[in-house]
Amino acid sequence: MTTRREALQFSLAGALLAALPRGWAAVADGPMKRAIPRSGQQIPVVGLGSSATFSQLAGSQEIGALREVIAELARLGGTVFDTAPSYGASEQVAGDIARELKLTDAMFWATKVNVAGRGGGAADPAAARAQIESSFAKLGKQPIDLIQVHNLGDVPVQLGILKELRETGRVRHIGVTTTFPAQYPQLIEVMQAEPLDFIGIDYAIDNRAIEERILPLAQEKGIAVMVYLPFGRTRLWERMRGKDLPDWAAEIDAVSWAQFFLKFVLAHPAVTVVTPATSKAKHMADNLGAAYGRLPDAAMRERMIGHIAGL
Ligand SMILES: NC(=O)c1ccc[n+]([C@@H]2O[C@H](COP(=O)([O-])OP(=O)(O)OC[C@H]3O[C@@H](n4cnc5c(N)ncnc54)[C@H](OP(=O)(O)O)[C@@H]3O)[C@@H](O)[C@H]2O)c1
Repeated sequence: MTTRREALQFSLAGALLAALPRGWAAVADGPMKRAIPRSGQQIPVVGLGSSATFSQLAGSQEIGALREVIAELARLGGTVFDTAPSYGASEQVAGDIARELKLTDAMFWATKVNVAGRGGGAADPAAARAQIESSFAKLGKQPIDLIQVHNLGDVPVQLGILKELRETGRVRHIGVTTTFPAQYPQLIEVMQAEPLDFIGIDYAIDNRAIEERILPLAQEKGIAVMVYLPFGRTRLWERMRGKDLPDWAAEIDAVSWAQFFLKFVLAHPAVTVVTPATSKAKHMADNLGAAYGRLPDAAMRERMIGHIAGL
């Protein structure tokens, strides 16, 4: 016998499904999730980044659109939000919106620390600690799910502080980030020497340098990979302008170029999560769509690379 409560739940699920774009039949199970190797925590494979267009809007008075983006992330089962103290008002604005929408504890907050400045400067430990405390105040969650050393700034000092915070339970996961190929050799050294939970790094269908050493090393060491710049910010959009998605994208359940690019990235077994930035709720829904349906196999990935290279 179906109880009244079950019937209500069923009709709510039906209403949610009806409100979603077509082709998302698997949505009832929520987005695809992957485990963070060191903690076992499962997180949805598509999240939201907050530099680029998100931070531009966060810096304006027009934050209503960002409220819709974060609400859409949550509505479709997403939780991962990547930010940094250096992304203008993004960290503060997202923290405020999440509080308002009562999402603070449900979110997987990934923020960063860096007071070392550009060009390999030294970080003042007191300033680094103050920046981290400011992130706690802005985001409002303890422990914070992930803090990474931004752009490998003064790793001995800043990662040292993060290790201590992980030890005392104030931060769940720690890591380092870079999106500069010139820093990849240093990144590899840090991955080999330090007990990292995560790296954050650039990866896209037309930017695959990390497949050679960094992604295999992450798998070997059990380090989760958070992918940045899956669209190369504007690079892939400029390349695709006016071009139709090939019919065979349906074989991997991709209904847009965004899903084509995100599914390519997610098909690499070392990748844990990808966090494209957006300032538009409809793009958020489109991006989360990549966490549903099939992913390309090796042969399909080659076909996808060839297709993009030929455009
Ligand atoms: N060193 C680091 O730690 C580091 C460095 C770089 C990036 N990151 C992180 O990675 C995140 C992602 O990188 P990114 O923001 O630079 O670049 P990105 O995610 O590759 O691209 C963002 C751009 O794509 C557009 N876009 C997003 N979804 C779309 C869709 N479905 N259809 C069409 N256009 C779409 C956005 O514009 P709309 O607003 O119009 O959607 C925005 O212009 C950052 O936000 C940040 O959190 C970290």
